Amino acid sequence: MQTIQIDRVSKKFGQLEVLSDIDFTIEKGEFAAIVGPSGCGKSTVLRMIAGLETASEGQVLANGQRIQKPDPQRVLIFQEHALYPWRTVDDNVGFGLELAKVPAKERRIRVNEVLEKVGLSGFQSYYPSQLSGGMKQRVSIARALVLNPEVLLLDEPYGALDAITRLTMQNELIKLWRGSGMTVLLITHDIDEAVYLADTIYVMSPRPGRITEKFQTAMLRPRDRNSSEFVKLRHQIMDSLDIGTYSI
Ligand SMILES: Nc1ncnc2c1ncn2[C@@H]1O[C@H](COP(=O)(O)OP(=O)(O)OP(=O)(O)O)[C@@H](O)[C@H]1O
Ligand SMILES: [Mg+2]
Repeated sequence: MQTIQIDRVSKKFGQLEVLSDIDFTIEKGEFAAIVGPSGCGKSTVLRMIAGLETASEGQVLANGQRIQKPDPQRVLIFQEHALYPWRTVDDNVGFGLELAKVPAKERRIRVNEVLEKVGLSGFQSYYPSQLSGGMKQRVSIARALVLNPEVLLLDEPYGALDAITRLTMQNELIKLWRGSGMTVLLITHDIDEAVYLADTIYVMSPRPGRITEKFQTAMLRPRDRNSSEFVKLRHQIMDSLDIGTYSI
């Protein structure tokens, strides 16, 4: 299992300073979330942990080792799920195993197992165009989980879903995470979602992104969105993001 450490990281794209001195650690098995305004560098942080981007200053470490390239132990689920339209559910989910040259028989067993977990048994032979939005999202989560990753990086995974599917998916994610030992980092615009899911919530400032505040909660799961503890934490995060009310 993996501890992820972002060690005094700054990032520039040309002249554009995107991240400024970001420093935080996600412990093994922890569920962390980042909220922050659009363009503040959240996806860039995730891409660095996934090994798809390098820091301009500082370093990103997994169990003390510098991350320099992608690794199947750290899986990123993108903002837009990118399923192959010409592949069935089975073949989309099994794609990473194919690349890893896992034999067909073992592949089939692992794919079936994970499809069962995400509630998609029976849809093996469907194509993405024949699935609902929520089902497509579950396929992309299954595609990550089938690799048994130690670190799951989620970039706005439910952004495109309707509110009801979103709530269901949140519960499913907690079920999958519990007892798995996975370290999770979730990027979300949805403060409610962050409070519902995460142990630790980092708030980022507008670009250049910095961590402006860290919130931790030990609220028991399943969490009650109407409890005073939940509402209070949501308020604190809103205040931290400085989303004011408007005057007429
Ligand atoms: N490969 C790249 N080359 C140049 N600039 C980039 C690159 N990737 C990201 N950026 C810039 O970095 C900034 C942060 O982008 P990033 O995608 O990390 O933001 P974000 O916080 O995820 O935003 P959103 O909430 O809208 O997804 C943006 O201004 C973007 O234009
Ligand atoms: Mg983003």
